[in-house]
Amino acid sequence: MSGSAFFEVDDLHVHFASRAKLFRETPPPVKAVNGISFSIEPGKTFGLVGESGSGKSTVARAILQLVDVHAGTIRLDGDDVTNVPRPKELAFRKKVQAVLQDPFSSLNQVHQTRRIIGDGITRHFKIKPGPEREQRIINLLDEVGMSTEFLDRYPYEMSGGQRQRVSIARALAVEPELIIADEATSALDVSIQSQVINVLQRVQAETGVAFLFIGHDLEVVKHVSDDVGVMYLGYLVEQGDADAIYEGPTHPYTEMLVASIPMPNPIMQASRRELRQSFNNDAEPPSPARMPPGCPFENRCPVALDICREEMPEPSPAHHGGQVRCHLHTSGPELGGESVVEFIKTEARGQVAV
Ligand SMILES: Nc1ncnc2c1ncn2[C@@H]1O[C@H](COP(=O)(O)OP(=O)(O)OP(=O)(O)O)[C@@H](O)[C@H]1O
Ligand code: SF4
Ligand SMILES: [Mg+2]
Repeated sequence: MSGSAFFEVDDLHVHFASRAKLFRETPPPVKAVNGISFSIEPGKTFGLVGESGSGKSTVARAILQLVDVHAGTIRLDGDDVTNVPRPKELAFRKKVQAVLQDPFSSLNQVHQTRRIIGDGITRHFKIKPGPEREQRIINLLDEVGMSTEFLDRYPYEMSGGQRQRVSIARALAVEPELIIADEATSALDVSIQSQVINVLQRVQAETGVAFLFIGHDLEVVKHVSDDVGVMYLGYLVEQGDADAIYEGPTHPYTEMLVASIPMPNPIMQASRRELRQSFNNDAEPPSPARMPPGCPFENRCPVALDICREEMPEPSPAHHGGQVRCHLHTSGPELGGESVVEFIKTEARGQVAV
């Protein structure tokens, strides 16, 4: 990593003690995050996508200081913020805020909107309740498209979308440099989801805040992100420019995610369905406590090579300017970082065009 980006995660590893006891032996740790590196530029959005259990929230929790980092470094504005000492925690929290999936549990139920948003203003800017703080709260509500009638509302008096807007206003109140949005729109209806995404995009254009946007829906994540990282079982298997990855994925797992996105055109939809069926969809991913020596996607991959069972691929350059972790690019067909789509179509389906 260059060391010059505003926000950098470098070779991050997070392990958890296994919950289950294995006879009397201490079970191996759950390797939830395995050597992840990415950076975010000011005012940009990095999207993290992957199926349930791939380690997305663990990355978020490591950045937010909520879990111990096993190895690796997190840097913000050039400072090492991997394990922020208590006296510096307040300054860190002013720079990095979170918007989480369930605003109902993350908002204090006994406080009205005024206090939910105002507390951060008092804590970080030492502005006590009064006209100045009130005006700031009103401006923040306006920024997320809410009127003053919500000032006296409790969380249970608002809809899911309104609560999520309050969460965004609460995060913005401390004027952060980075907001971590972990499944921030996943629980909302599609129309409300796009309203909240519009709010996030407007806020970014107006304030220049950077986002780490986490989700399991590639279409949504790609829509809001400049760059995306695709996670599979704790590994970042592909990362780079969001649109270029969507147009030409270089990792079979990314292609599987792209092929899962519904298309309005029925012919293209049928073609995608066929491609999706070439993956071994019934295979269970390995347990993160018992990772295989090779590629963890091997048992679902339609184009696995012999080496895939034995060796974990290293990251190599991809056509979209980012990286991919897949032997196809360095062994066998040696795709050299190009799109994997045509190769899967021909190889996995016996030379029949999909
Ligand atoms: N505190 C913990 N103790 C033990 N294992 C944990 C703990 N937290 C997470 N894990 C495990 O780490 C792995 C990654 O979990 P994580 O919640 O980061 O995934 P995720 O990608 O955010 O999934 P989802 O899409 O369901 O939110 C999973 O196998 C999970 O069971
Ligand atoms: S490394 Fe091998 S098994 Fe893993 S995704 Fe690439 S081709 Fe498939
Ligand atoms: Mg999660």
